[in-house]
Parts: sequence; structure tokens; C-alpha cells
Amino acid sequence: MPKKVILDVDPGIDDAMALCLALFNPELDVVAVTAVGGNCPPDQATRNVQAIIEQLDPPRWPRIGAASPPDHALPVDGRYLHGSDGLGGANLQVAELRSRHPSEKVISDAIRATPNAVTIIALGPLTNLARVFLRDPELTSMVGEVIMVGGTVSGPGNITPAAEFNMYCDPESARTVFRSPLTKTLVPLDLTNQIVLSYDLFNKLPDESTRVGKLLHTILPPAFRAYRQRFGQEGIHVHDSVALMAAIHPTLFTIEGMAADVETAGELTSGATVFDRRRVPAWRHNLGVAIAMDREKVVDAIIQGLHQAAKR
Ligand code: BDR
Ligand code: CA
Repeated sequence: MPKKVILDVDPGIDDAMALCLALFNPELDVVAVTAVGGNCPPDQATRNVQAIIEQLDPPRWPRIGAASPPDHALPVDGRYLHGSDGLGGANLQVAELRSRHPSEKVISDAIRATPNAVTIIALGPLTNLARVFLRDPELTSMVGEVIMVGGTVSGPGNITPAAEFNMYCDPESARTVFRSPLTKTLVPLDLTNQIVLSYDLFNKLPDESTRVGKLLHTILPPAFRAYRQRFGQEGIHVHDSVALMAAIHPTLFTIEGMAADVETAGELTSGATVFDRRRVPAWRHNLGVAIAMDREKVVDAIIQGLHQAAKR
């Protein structure tokens, strides 16, 4: 029986790749794709979700949730890396911009429809999740599991010296989710940074004759240029696809229980994830953290997954 999942995304180039992998995976039943502001503003994120799904035209269309404006303006604009429209400037067209229910409602409805059976895969800032569970705390006990990408355990941040992008965008929401009783797993930068999609790997992706290949060949080259210009790096990170692999192939990852929180106020450290790793910790474990993975197998699973997606 396929696993029911909600993908909460801020597309975002690596979010789009994760959608390619998830929407065609026979082991997943993607009941909803909900947009959240992050890599691009909320309206654009919603538009991008619809455009990606239209472009890919998966066998089963998920419900789509529209991103609401965040309580505080996004403190950073991810378009420096993801292009003017969040998808490398691809300017994907939508057939007709549909009126959508807000992401929070779509997530709540999906959880209520099949209690304890839905996994939420959060690939952007945690704005939507915090809203859902603040509004209706009862729902926390009705979610199967939450897998989220972001934060950093031992290494530096990627948007400030201390903070990872998703946490930095909305630290208050991240804190709400971290402190909630949800069963949750974090896939941090310490792992996602270990995988670089090089030009060699890019050349192994499905070609443009397929819908998946066409989308990837449209949105990835601008990301390669942005990484080279910004970081002097030949190759790109695909954080969200790595996190998705933790949902599809959990045996490739080692998960350790940890006690974690998110800094919301620090002048230099807002959005930093803080772990109580003292010899005698005072905080209780509140989430699992992916601390190791079989890197080669994860890369292989991403490339093979994209080929399978392209065939369907
Ligand atoms: C995260 O930040 C975003 O830019 C990516 O889509 C990913 O979710 C990695 O820090
Ligand atoms: Ca993302």
C-alpha cells in the first residue's frame, strides 16, 4: 500500500526536483502539494506548484494548497539562487490560475481524512505546519510523521553563519514545530550538503524528450550558473531530494534521537538550530535527526528515481 504523503514546498529548484521524484513514485500516494513562501514569495510559490504539476501531469493529481502571506515578511529572498521566478527564470506558464484553498486547510483536511496515516514532508519554511497545529492542536496526534529538511547540527548555516535557509525564513514557526509533540525527523545541512549534483550526474538525468527531463533541463542549468557565480562551485545541492529519500528509503539513513530548538531572537543567530548535546543534557529528545547516510546509494536512488519518473 503506497504511503500517503503531503509535500509542503517552496519551489524552488530543488523542491521542483523532489516533486518530480515524488509524484511518480509508486510507493507514494501524494495526496496534496501545499505551497509556502520561501525560495520565492507565497503567490509565486503557489503558481510554481501549479505550473510544475501541470507540466509533469502525473497519473494522479494531488490537491494543491495556496501559500498565505507569512506573519512577518520573509527576511531573505531565495531568488538569488533560484532565479527571478524561483525556477531559474523558466517562467513556466499555468493553463489557468485556479482559485485554491489555503495550504493550512488542505493539510488539515488531508490529516482528518485519514488519521495517523499521513506523512508530511516539509521542504520549505515551517510556516504552514505551525499554523495548522497552532490552530488545531488536536491534529498533532493525528499525523503519522513529519520529515523536514533544514537546520544544521555541527556545520555552518547556508544563509547566515549560524542559520540554514528554511529555519531562517520563519524561525518562530520552526520553533513551534520543533516544540510540538509531533513525531518528526530532521534532515539537516550536515547531510544534504554531502551530495553535489555534478555536471557528470546532470548528464545522467532523463533527456528532454520526457516531461520530467524537459523540466529538469529547463530549471537546472540556471542553478548550476548561480552556484558557480555565488559559491565558485561546479555542481548544485539538491537538499529537498535528499530529504525525500529519507522518506522513501529510510534504511539508507541513520537517525539519532536529539533534543533541539530554534533560536528566534538572536541578532546574529536567528534561525539557528540548537541541540542539547551536553554530557548531561537538560532538554528531552524531541525529534530524530538524520546523522549519516549511504551517500552513493542515495545519489543512485535520486538518479534512478528520476528515470522511473520519466518513464511513467
Ligand atoms: C533549503 O533551502 C531552500 O533554498 C532549499 O529549497 C531547501 O529546502 C536548504 O537550505
Ligand atoms: Ca525547499
